[in-house]
Amino acid sequence: MTDEIKQRKLEHITVALEEGIGVSQRAGWGDIHLVHQALPEIDLQEVDTTATFLGRRLACPVVISALTGGHPEAVTINRNLARAAERYGLALGVGSQRAALVNPDLVPTYAVVREEAPQAFVIANIGAPQLIDQERHPAFTLSQVEQAIAMIEADALAVHMNALQEATQVEGDRRMRGVATALRRLTAEVAVPVIAKETGAGVCREQALLLRSCGVAAIDVGGAGGSSMSALEAARARTHGETQAQQIGQLYRDWGIPTPIALVEAGIAGLPLIATGGVRSGLDVARAIALGATLVGMGFPFLKAASESYERVCELLEQTLTELKIAMQLSGAANLASLRQVDVIVTGETRAWLSLRGFEEELRALANRRARAATYSLPAVETASEERQRPSPVDGHS
Ligand SMILES: Cc1cc2nc3c(=O)[nH]c(=O)nc-3n(C[C@H](O)[C@H](O)[C@H](O)COP(=O)(O)O)c2cc1C
Repeated sequence: MTDEIKQRKLEHITVALEEGIGVSQRAGWGDIHLVHQALPEIDLQEVDTTATFLGRRLACPVVISALTGGHPEAVTINRNLARAAERYGLALGVGSQRAALVNPDLVPTYAVVREEAPQAFVIANIGAPQLIDQERHPAFTLSQVEQAIAMIEADALAVHMNALQEATQVEGDRRMRGVATALRRLTAEVAVPVIAKETGAGVCREQALLLRSCGVAAIDVGGAGGSSMSALEAARARTHGETQAQQIGQLYRDWGIPTPIALVEAGIAGLPLIATGGVRSGLDVARAIALGATLVGMGFPFLKAASESYERVCELLEQTLTELKIAMQLSGAANLASLRQVDVIVTGETRAWLSLRGFEEELRALANRRARAATYSLPAVETASEERQRPSPVDGHS
């Protein structure tokens, strides 16, 4: 089992980097439009990206998503990510720590993160299916979970919900009955806040409410539209000659709730949200925050950059931050709190889905937030024909 997990961790990195594991259906960020302000009255240099998450101030709202650990090859990637997180004041997650819990020799592949990022907000990671007994192994004990947290002196614990990946993985854990109860017990017992984290299939409103009742402190909505864990497992299955698993993984490649939709749906729980899944620019980061995210996660772009060099991670961050600031300036938001108050127009399939799910009122409110907050009334109260009949100031003086 220990070598099996270690080998799988290596395959996850190589397959993700060498095969296309993005979903063919996009996240739908193009459906989210921030209303342009022609005279924004904000200098680009004064745009403030400081965020607050679970009581901690972060220099920017971008999270480096849980990606790796558990194989010697992962050390360089985690080191490059952690150095950048420390420099730019970001939060970062490590990949599932199960590998090191069953094989302590692998602890340094995760611990490198805290060594390189002593001040950063670091997030430990375990799987929700491993909170209960599975066919091939027993549930994690509380002491094992505490070891995972202590291994990287974590500020929070992410419990990843990856039912899709487990179902499509040849050696996956198939049991899910009882996970919510186990999660509820865990949140009451561990000393750090727990983040419930989907890994690419999204969180709907009913599940968000369930998660809140389980006592989680935040939700990473981990929606569809970016890296697909099902595609990842399909590619692994192909390299192992597992044709049936490959076909099943391909079939479910696009399964799930796209990230912007999951954000709106999960917003009903009133918890801090992380938006991960298909975020590919600072403009997407801005769109996610305007839709209600507290932080925004990126996985694959960071994996690719960190597999090249630390400098590439820094370049990616510089570009993302510049793009975010431009979106903020142009929508008239000097800080992230204001960005959550700008007008957002939701169109296309994202709108169609949300309307069918009963979010029509919320969409209308999102589109008119400034007018609702302002003292002036909407232009609609004065019709175009009334406007024409009224004498202009110029007429009055003639
Ligand atoms: C190679 C790879 C490994 C991953 N491993 C984990 C993991 O161990 N735990 C976890 O919670 N998420 C894991 N994820 C999911 C990411 O944290 C993230 O949710 C996902 O990549 C979607 O973001 P993206 O579209 O920006 O890549 C992994 C993703 C990739 C690509």
